[in-house]
Amino acid sequence: MSVHASTSATVPPSGRPVTIHDLAAAKARGERFVMVTAYDASSAGLLDELGVPVLLVGDSLGMVVLGYDSTIPVTLEEMLHHTRAVARGTDRALVVGDLPFGSYQEGPSQALASAVRMLKEGGAHAVKLEGGGPMATVTEHLVGAGIPVMGHLGLTPQSVHQVGGYRVQGRDKEAADRILEDARRLEAAGAFSIVLEAVPAAIGEAVTAAVSIPTIGIGAGPGTDAQVLVWHDLLGLTTGRLPRFVKAYADLRAEIATAVKAFRSEVADGAYPAEEHTY
Ligand code: KIV
Repeated sequence: MSVHASTSATVPPSGRPVTIHDLAAAKARGERFVMVTAYDASSAGLLDELGVPVLLVGDSLGMVVLGYDSTIPVTLEEMLHHTRAVARGTDRALVVGDLPFGSYQEGPSQALASAVRMLKEGGAHAVKLEGGGPMATVTEHLVGAGIPVMGHLGLTPQSVHQVGGYRVQGRDKEAADRILEDARRLEAAGAFSIVLEAVPAAIGEAVTAAVSIPTIGIGAGPGTDAQVLVWHDLLGLTTGRLPRFVKAYADLRAEIATAVKAFRSEVADGAYPAEEHTY
């Protein structure tokens, strides 16, 4: 039997907001949980109502909402604008704001300035940043200032040009060992959780066993403590070739097409607005 004995919600039953300690307790209990990305107040409100414990205002915002072809152009101002909206729509979920490319790579003081804005102006409860190595020092600095940090290892999309594409990471032993070591360093630096993106399932499992903080997988197999999906992918709103790990739990593109076609045709033939829609 798996260590994940239960799939019940991580949201505290008392109605109080979710904290990073609830996520640690979920891992300790072997309770799997989900994180979903959110970019606006209405979807955040719905996810909150549905008991999703963690909302990530991901810099995937750039690709799924703003029309960029990668996450690299996303600015801190854009992240703040959408994080504020998500925070306004949320009562209970833990809101994590992604630090975008260029807002923390200069080092601890730049990262602290950006993370402070994410909490003070964006209303986030925590920040996420990509990478291992020097990011352990950055993490330690932010945590020391009272800012919860979620790490992100494996495929780190902000480094797409260095990595040479959106490909699975950690396939050879050296790379796998590096991910494991980076995860341990992030934990030691005080990170409260780690996203593991596009790594073989064996690495997802090994990292999850090696650290006591929750691992949140996206393309990291079934052995992580939690799973995250991008809102648009989860609902079938994304077009084009999707990564293998994406599962669409609905086909909202088709639903939307049906609704818009019906609206267009009812306006064309005069069926809408009918008497009940008219003052
Ligand atoms: O930006 C994002 O949405 C992310 C998730 C895919 C983890 O980083």
